[in-house]
Amino acid sequence: GNGAHVQALVIGTGYGGSVAALRLAQAGVAVEMIEMGMAWDTPGSDGKIFCNLTSPDERSFWLRTETKQPVGYFLGIPIDRSIPSYTGILDAEDFAGITVYQGRGIGGGSLVNGGMAVTPKQENFGAILPSVDPNEMYNVYYPRANAGLGAGVIPNSWFNTTQWYEFARVGQKQAGRSGFPFEFVPDVYDWNYMQQEDAGTVPRSALAQELLYGNNYGKKSLQKTYIPAALATGKVNISPLHKVTSVSPASGGGYTVLMNQLDTSGNVIVTKEVTADKVVFAAGSVGTSKLLVQMRDTGQLPNLNDQVGQGWGDNGNIMVGRANQIWDPTGANQSTIPCGGIDNWTAGGAFAEVAPLPIGIETWASLYLSITKNPHRAQFSWNSSTQKVDLSWQQAWKQDGITMAKTIFDKINSTEGTIYRTDLFGTYKTWQDELTYHPLGGAVLNQATDNYGRLTAYPGLYVMDGALIPGNTSVNPFVTITALAERNIENIIANGG
Ligand code: FDA
Repeated sequence: GNGAHVQALVIGTGYGGSVAALRLAQAGVAVEMIEMGMAWDTPGSDGKIFCNLTSPDERSFWLRTETKQPVGYFLGIPIDRSIPSYTGILDAEDFAGITVYQGRGIGGGSLVNGGMAVTPKQENFGAILPSVDPNEMYNVYYPRANAGLGAGVIPNSWFNTTQWYEFARVGQKQAGRSGFPFEFVPDVYDWNYMQQEDAGTVPRSALAQELLYGNNYGKKSLQKTYIPAALATGKVNISPLHKVTSVSPASGGGYTVLMNQLDTSGNVIVTKEVTADKVVFAAGSVGTSKLLVQMRDTGQLPNLNDQVGQGWGDNGNIMVGRANQIWDPTGANQSTIPCGGIDNWTAGGAFAEVAPLPIGIETWASLYLSITKNPHRAQFSWNSSTQKVDLSWQQAWKQDGITMAKTIFDKINSTEGTIYRTDLFGTYKTWQDELTYHPLGGAVLNQATDNYGRLTAYPGLYVMDGALIPGNTSVNPFVTITALAERNIENIIANGG
């Protein structure tokens, strides 16, 4: 409540925040978690907590009057629709050159993501986090993260036979015919549950077009893993619909944290002030970077160093669709959960997830989300005239990612005698080059912070999320974010801060 004093305050309830809360609580520290989004624990009038991809309602987007679907067109026709403005689950946050998609609610990105739990190849790790000992990561922290998250691979026999993964088998076959390795990737979806969905013995979730706006049953989001473990310690409290707006040193020691309590229309209903001995910034790459840059440049935390706000990248995200031959249908029935990708990282700088297009009709389309080695990095800066934080990313920089993704898809098109789809991201628009799902950086490890996430100018302030990672992970990022948080919080606890 207002005026309270807490031992540790964690801003955000995504991967970094949940790991920090659990480990601090296990070490005996009382933790208050502050989350701007909703709790997502109460069914709506349809009996479901979350809505599905094909019928987005007010629950779908964060304070928008129209959906902003990543695949926003079909046959070149826009498919976005009007929705009531509400504190919904998926935020499509617009900057000048890019829209950054993020989860809002208790569980952060784990509520909306595809659950792909990918550990980078160890030979690529040095380029991801050069100051981190890879042996420690691969022997201790990646295994700890994967166990805590509940990652597993699709059972092979089911993959090979089920109609729900025909789209992925087409992807596998075509990768092979063009000489690319197809790699199964683990996911946190409960694969046994999905097979029961198929058998019709349980309510459907992945097989009922649920993904971007939440998953009602089978996905092990943080709501089923780290967060209940943290709450079970009895030392953690979570406040949803509270947005942190300011952190500054308190006169008697510790930090003053200001926050706005929101209603479901996004209006501020009350402003609160709390003091905390320690504050963990885990608001995600964008949320943490925006807060820190604003605090530094408006004088609340003036001694934050000039690396704060630097080193932001899009993990090279690029989406594209291909039109298959008539004899290669991808299936009217598609699971929403991806299970594999095409690896051309070393030769071409691209790793392409074979993604579903689960709209319930045969489309003959193959959709891919590629992660590329795009070298561009942007910075956050405080704009005193708009009183907002800007991001310097330019849309033209996506061309590097497109060039890398083409090393895979030009080859596959040539082998198969096929072409790109131009009707999914606009009218005659081939590449989705306007968004990222994987914001990374802004408070890079060992640059903006020490080698464990401490903001050393301010004892007791830490960064614990995707802001620490310098723009790219070579694969989907949440396992790396989780593993790095496990590493950092262990060091912070062991050293008393
Ligand atoms: P994360 O964003 O998870 O959490 C930050 C939390 O802080 C949010 O809940 C936010 O609401 C809250 N917050 C922000 N500002 C605040 C403030 N001022 N006050 C209070 N709270 C605040 N990754 C992957 O590895 N595999 C995958 O399959 C996918 N798929 C995918 C699909 C889609 C559609 C998206 C949007 C993202 C993915 N991702 C993914 C990316 C993954 O979800 C992402 O990298 C992580 O969630 C980032 O974890 P963090 O802990 O950094 O922040």
